[in-house]
Amino acid sequence: MCGIVGYIGDKNSATDFVINGLRALEYRGYDSAGIATTDGGKLIYLKNAGRVNSLAKLVAENGNTYQTVDSKLSCGIGHTRWATHGRPTKVNAHPHTNADKKIFVVCNGIIENYQELKSTLEEKGYKFVSETDTEVIPHLIDSYLKEGEDFFTAFKMAVSDLRGAYAIATYCIDKPEVLYAARLSSPIVIGVGENEHFIASDPSALINNTKKVIFLNDFEVAEIKADKVHIESLDGAKAATGEVVELDYEAEESDIGKYPHFMLKEIHEAPATIESATRGRVKPSINTVKLGGLEAVKQQLTHIDRIIITACGTSYYAGLLGEYLIEEIAGIPVEVELASEFKYRSEPFTRNTAVIAISQSGETADTIAAIKKVEDYGILKLGIVNATGSTIARITDAGVYCHAGPEQSVASTKAFMAQVTILAEIALHLSDGKSKLFSPLLKELSVLPEKAKKVLEAEPQIKELAKKYADCRDFLFMGRGYLYPCALEGALKLKEISYIHAEGCSAGEMKHGPLAMIDENFPTVALAAEGPLLDKMLSNIEEIKARKGPIIAIATEGNDNIERLATDVIFIPKVREQLQPLLVVIVLQLFAYHIAVNKGLNVDRPRNLAKSVTVE
Ligand code: F6R
Repeated sequence: MCGIVGYIGDKNSATDFVINGLRALEYRGYDSAGIATTDGGKLIYLKNAGRVNSLAKLVAENGNTYQTVDSKLSCGIGHTRWATHGRPTKVNAHPHTNADKKIFVVCNGIIENYQELKSTLEEKGYKFVSETDTEVIPHLIDSYLKEGEDFFTAFKMAVSDLRGAYAIATYCIDKPEVLYAARLSSPIVIGVGENEHFIASDPSALINNTKKVIFLNDFEVAEIKADKVHIESLDGAKAATGEVVELDYEAEESDIGKYPHFMLKEIHEAPATIESATRGRVKPSINTVKLGGLEAVKQQLTHIDRIIITACGTSYYAGLLGEYLIEEIAGIPVEVELASEFKYRSEPFTRNTAVIAISQSGETADTIAAIKKVEDYGILKLGIVNATGSTIARITDAGVYCHAGPEQSVASTKAFMAQVTILAEIALHLSDGKSKLFSPLLKELSVLPEKAKKVLEAEPQIKELAKKYADCRDFLFMGRGYLYPCALEGALKLKEISYIHAEGCSAGEMKHGPLAMIDENFPTVALAAEGPLLDKMLSNIEEIKARKGPIIAIATEGNDNIERLATDVIFIPKVREQLQPLLVVIVLQLFAYHIAVNKGLNVDRPRNLAKSVTVE
């Protein structure tokens, strides 16, 4: 969703850093962009509906240097906006400013009480030009300054007036050597350099400049100068920490390389993703699974008799697979809850319940809220998170990192691979070696990257299929057992990047409704890999065939019968049913990708969607 960047220092041009930082955040999804920066004493304040490149062009063409600023330092902020309040127009783009255009504010999130604040400010004579909630902030700061407060106090008073979820960065040309930031439930991080500091809502905007960062916590406000950062907590009960931590990923991992889209690159990273999710953890030679991230809670884990997995979207579907894996392998009852539902439900917990939050970004607002909901019950909170140092990684008691590297495409692919791999590892870990599947699955996990490579070799055939089916209006994805959550994920992938209507269902449910949709124009993707439910799946395929529905089957190598039934077949290598989703999903991801490419769509940035959903 929205992105924030900022710079203060004497080493870089604030404008260059901000423009490059905004480019690094483009993958999050946005519809307009803007900057307020000062270099060499000249202020640039420009906004634009559309891409960061057009904004960069505007900056290069006219610079719009309408004010001079008394400072030798470079300083300023920028923003990419994903519209919530008000259309994606130039006037609604951030930064927003006060009447004399001295205070500039960018904000991610939602200010829930902005109408109330706006009315009070209007009564005082403040005029609003945009439809946004953010515009109240520069006017609020201005009103407190007019009451005689110093800038930092005015900033803190304004922030204290806000209700909602936000990350804010502010720059005032009367304080040209300071940036201000605040956070409540929406991430913002301060990058630490030599006589320079950076701000970003996502560390990926900083990694070319520094790996040393300070994550702001909820209710914290920061006064950031080139040579020092001062942080205060507005929550009287908590002291600000301001701890500097080191990020552990490399800048080049974000490069697109030889691929036309990040999504394709990330699908092709499947073998490497499984490898890094198992490295040092899965040890078949000594029949052990070792999850360092859970060591600290080892004792508590032995008492767990119920697990609730909570997540959104693709991570939720990974969670459904976690339910199958943990229940079968470790014998512990699991429920999987959409975070957006779970956070509002009233349900009983016992001390022996553990909650596992799954999130690629670690910043999904609903998943954060779900974890916060259980904070007061004193129950164990675990995370399966990809983004190191993200909010969910920090607010959980322990967890297992995905180590999948930055995922840039809005559609999640490699993160799902890592999440499911880790859920299998957690299931094995919780079984404490007692499951009969323990040794076989450890062995299978260690050879899975090779099998994933073989699936990727089927890409030319999948591409042809995508061409054949690209004009279909609807699709059904069906599976049973471990392949049922996989069917749901296949349908989500297709609809989010190709805008084709797709439904996922359990094949056993077909006769209870979905079968009514089937005719010669409604293809079904049947997940028919080898396993105890294959015969039942084949009966479902027969029923569809009898109703003239085209069938694309995904089957296990060596199953010659399937070609008699299905219109088209993609084969995957033989693998135990518990791990089949990890191979089948690669086919589904490639299928969705090539259909979207065929339709000429913006694969990495599908319309209306954002990478990190930081508002409810
Ligand atoms: C789908 C997709 C989304 C995310 C969901 C949760 O391809 O990317 O459904 O899976 O928004 O995001 P995280 O995992 O970051 O919490």
